[in-house]
Amino acid sequence: MMTETASETPIARRFPVDFVWGAATSAFQIEGAADADGKSESIWDRFCATPGRIADASDGRVACDHYHRSRDDVALMSDLGLNAYRFSISWTRVIPDGSGEVNAPGLDFYDRLVDDLLEAGITPFPTLYHWDLPQVLEDQGGWPARATAEAFAEYAGTVARRLGDRVTHWTTINEPFVIANLGYLMGEHAPGRTDLGAAIAASHHVLVGHGMALDAIKEVQPSAEVGIVVNFTPVTPVGDSPFAVDRQRVANDYENRWYTDPLSGKGYPDYTVERLGWDQREVEPGDMELIARPVDFLGINFYTRKFVGAIDGERGERGGVTSMGWEIHPPALGRLLRFLDESYDFPKLLVTENGAAMPDTERDHDGRIADRDRIAYLAGHLEQVLDAIDAGVPVGGYFAWSLLDNFEWAWGYGPKFGIVEVDPRTQERRPKQSALWYADLIRSSTIPPIDRP
Ligand code: FCB
Repeated sequence: MMTETASETPIARRFPVDFVWGAATSAFQIEGAADADGKSESIWDRFCATPGRIADASDGRVACDHYHRSRDDVALMSDLGLNAYRFSISWTRVIPDGSGEVNAPGLDFYDRLVDDLLEAGITPFPTLYHWDLPQVLEDQGGWPARATAEAFAEYAGTVARRLGDRVTHWTTINEPFVIANLGYLMGEHAPGRTDLGAAIAASHHVLVGHGMALDAIKEVQPSAEVGIVVNFTPVTPVGDSPFAVDRQRVANDYENRWYTDPLSGKGYPDYTVERLGWDQREVEPGDMELIARPVDFLGINFYTRKFVGAIDGERGERGGVTSMGWEIHPPALGRLLRFLDESYDFPKLLVTENGAAMPDTERDHDGRIADRDRIAYLAGHLEQVLDAIDAGVPVGGYFAWSLLDNFEWAWGYGPKFGIVEVDPRTQERRPKQSALWYADLIRSSTIPPIDRP
């Protein structure tokens, strides 16, 4: 609720003092050092090397060279006043064969990163899997095969044994929907397969892998906070014919409830299981209990919403779009947070990714990128987070996507999501105006006024 002083000047609302303020990245998108120190090939290395897969024919071989610049990047985060950093760990650095022998130098890199973060007062939030599956495991069946979930749990235990004396917050998997569907159904992401049966099997094994990994971490470190990161694209209905309503239901179940329902013990959404004709042959006794192990928080990645009607591409009234063509509609985040709070019992919600690719063509007189559009995007979404907190929704933190301009998967280096610019020739980092604005926000715990683009 907005409080007013006698002079009617609104007092800005504040975020809670213990709010987690971070930025997020992922290993493949920033590290580079593609085969340094014993790292093996991941499915993204292979995908990038396959002609026609990446829009600008680029790859992650150098990326932001974070593997060699992590010290400086931590100093940058510290200058911005971040109190948390969400990054991912590359499985191919730690266990190059997917399972079995541990590669010490790979683990040493994350060990140093964690130490540097802690020294700078920044809480590490590692994600164990952000899409870079060891290619050797894909060759044995990938996520559609149950053995991948077992190997994932082994890897999670290995990392927890090494870092668990310092890392207190873990996320297992990033965006199960994207892993299963962009990777195994639409073929737009590695490994580039197009098979619905494989995608559904992958979706189940990713959740099983999450449950097994959670157990493995808690076995080493019972007090650790462990969560999973799920992406949501809320469905806005267009039209109410029975055909449209059926499509809306299936889209919403498949994209938004397919993971949170089983994670909270409700099982897969029946209606859509039936519509997909899935016989659940992959579900073994005990799986649903394993998937529903209590998490300490749910990570939420939110970028945009989608319209679903009777006809493909049908659209309601749309707002502005980012350079990905994604509609900018902050109220959908507010509604999503309230929906998650009302429908499930997750003890805490964290916005683990939110941000926008923008053209970044304007500079101020210092030559700094003047990204008022990105600032407006972040401010609009953070207003929704504040409203949700005021309404009693337990949102405990927010991570801007992304700390750095980086490798945006099948789009290559075209889209710029960073709050910090990276010069691809020199690797020089330069905070954009949005980074300075975010730093102000963190310092004051209030949303600074914005100059709308
Ligand atoms: C999310 C991914 C992240 C980044 C953003 C734009 O789906 O988790 O790596 O690509 O989208």
